Amino acid sequence: MAEPVDAHGLGPCTARCAGSTPVLGTIMTNAASPDYGKITEEQYVSKFNSPSQSKEYFSRFHEPLIKEVDAKSSSTEIILLDIGCGYGYELDLIGDSTGINIIGVDISNEVLRSAQKRLPNVSFVTSDAENLPMSDDSIDCAIAVNAVIYKPDKILSSAFRVLKPHAKFAVNFRVFEKETNRAFYDYCEKFGALVADSRLTIQNGNEKVDFDIKVVDYTQCPNENNIRSLGRQIYFKTEQDVEKLISLTGFRILKHDTFQYASPGNERNETDVYILQKP
Ligand SMILES: C[S@@+](CC[C@H](N)C(=O)[O-])C[C@H]1O[C@@H](n2cnc3c(N)ncnc32)[C@H](O)[C@@H]1O
Repeated sequence: MAEPVDAHGLGPCTARCAGSTPVLGTIMTNAASPDYGKITEEQYVSKFNSPSQSKEYFSRFHEPLIKEVDAKSSSTEIILLDIGCGYGYELDLIGDSTGINIIGVDISNEVLRSAQKRLPNVSFVTSDAENLPMSDDSIDCAIAVNAVIYKPDKILSSAFRVLKPHAKFAVNFRVFEKETNRAFYDYCEKFGALVADSRLTIQNGNEKVDFDIKVVDYTQCPNENNIRSLGRQIYFKTEQDVEKLISLTGFRILKHDTFQYASPGNERNETDVYILQKP
């Protein structure tokens, strides 16, 4: 694994961490890079896919949020955060025309290096999204595509903390019990992933809230193409559970819609997309 580096000698991330302006086109780091980047970009695209390259997904779920904050960008500095941006495909679709400062966060240095080559005007920050290195109430808008699957509760809470009051967050979840998604989990099992019942317990004040979840665990797979580095992914069984989690994290649901897309393992994926707002 490559050591996390500070490509420009900037030291730990300062993008809004210390109230400074993000430095465009710079990879900054405050976390060890895990194994995700061992899956090459070609392997990622050919085997797994995500709706992040879909123009329709962009125009339905991201573009309206971006237009809304961009309208304010002549009078004030605006920051859009892409959580778990990976290779940055969803950012490709934004183009260079907005006055918005874009920050892509991912836990893997390797994927961010590829993203930075294509997107020199984006600031990339290597960080665990559980602990986003930004000040409270500092971000105007956030997006996350196929990205909260590792720590959905913690990443949503972290996004809630850094977003400004009334800021919006577009995030998607693949619900396990949808018949249309069945082929995807069968495909994971073909790679040797274990698809198992598990439980996620969230502390909510003095109360514990349990979710019966499914975990797709790649860690014991035959390690062809570094598949083990996909780790353990968490899937909620129902839309009701996703919405219960969202409300526990404090977000309000402004809009819930579904989006169908084909991936190498499933022609009929359906993902649930939520537009959330911090009250
Ligand atoms: C399925 S990829 C999605 C990438 C991109 N958003 C897309 O849809 O093409 C998931 C990404 O989340 C990143 N990731 C996993 N756990 C993370 C964490 N705790 N904090 C930040 N990023 C994480 C991985 O490195 C990976 O790039």
